[in-house]
Amino acid sequence: AIHPVLLCGGSGTRLWPLSRKSYPKQFAALLGGESLFQASAKRLSGPIFSAPVVVTADAFRFIAAEQLAEAGIAPAALLIEPEGRDTAAAILAATLHVAAGDPEALLLVAPSDHVIPEAPRFRDAVAAAVPAAQAGRIVTFGIAPDRPETGYGYLELQAPSEAEVAAPLPLVAFVEKPDADRAAAMVAGGRHLWNGGIFLFRADTMVAAAREHAPDLLAAVEAALAGARRDLGFCRLDPVAWAKAPSISIDYAVMEKAGNLSVMPYAGRWSDLGDWASVWRETEDEGAGGNALSGPATAIACEGTLLRAESPGQRVVGLGLTDIVAVAMPDAVLVAHKDRAQDVKAAVAALKAQG
Ligand code: GDD
Ligand code: MG
Repeated sequence: AIHPVLLCGGSGTRLWPLSRKSYPKQFAALLGGESLFQASAKRLSGPIFSAPVVVTADAFRFIAAEQLAEAGIAPAALLIEPEGRDTAAAILAATLHVAAGDPEALLLVAPSDHVIPEAPRFRDAVAAAVPAAQAGRIVTFGIAPDRPETGYGYLELQAPSEAEVAAPLPLVAFVEKPDADRAAAMVAGGRHLWNGGIFLFRADTMVAAAREHAPDLLAAVEAALAGARRDLGFCRLDPVAWAKAPSISIDYAVMEKAGNLSVMPYAGRWSDLGDWASVWRETEDEGAGGNALSGPATAIACEGTLLRAESPGQRVVGLGLTDIVAVAMPDAVLVAHKDRAQDVKAAVAALKAQG
């Protein structure tokens, strides 16, 4: 069986003010109904999967446990990071945890803030990638790009690929977060896919890659697991050892350097709900001026505008707006141009600096 690893330690600041330090976006019902985290956990359950390993921050441990229980999923382990050290450390902690039981176990690492509505189709793509992972490849999942997004990684193929293939293809190069010119060139060239941020590999394959490309990181995470405190169903990584782990994403630490990458193209719908522009893209009503409304919100003569009323008894009205996002919480309201959605992160940092 494949061991799913759910990463849910990120703080999702670009979705402020809905996503908060104490209650980030992956746990919020952004699209109504269940949270993105719950949908992710369910997507990675079924006959080919064992129980998930969840890696999260101390502050989110109870939300994560509660939301799993509500979804009817019992985790294999809840790994608690003393502080966020980005995805490389989190993924290695889960990998070493699983490797202790079975070094050749297969892991599927996935973010918990993505929208992948066709779960059975996604599971078929994972199943088709298993032989390559068993043979020692690190398999990425590639999405056909439709715009020169600079917030993603790009996967270079030898030749343009069919939308769907029976088995993973070899990768020429992995380029994390290119600048705008490079992204545009890659999209125009037709040989690149977006990195979906989901990885399938054997535990020992990842440990070997980390030993080669990020030995300091591996040593710190090994020590943090060796010194972990296991109580009440949580595995708390040792804070002193953990603090020595460099803060770097898996994309920069391992993927850009590894020579044994493959890519499984995935043609189903996929979205990283990273900012308000992507939430708008997922929820806009084309019949209604391309607006996306949530809660008691009214758009009059608006176009391409997102309006969200997120607190009880409050109404939001937009009049004559084009390409605006407005999100009203009880204690904070964001009004921004959709083109500046990426900059919300910087705005929140500036607020913090003001105190
Ligand atoms: N446990 C834990 N600890 N999770 C983390 C941490 C951490 O310190 N930091 C981030 N995460 C989680 C986030 O919550 C998210 O679910 C996932 O890891 C990926 O992190 P992001 O910060 O969202 O990465 P990104 O979107 O900038 O880039 C990655 O994903 C893209 C696709 O969505 C890269 O893999 C790109 O190459 C990729 O295209
Ligand atoms: Mg992301």
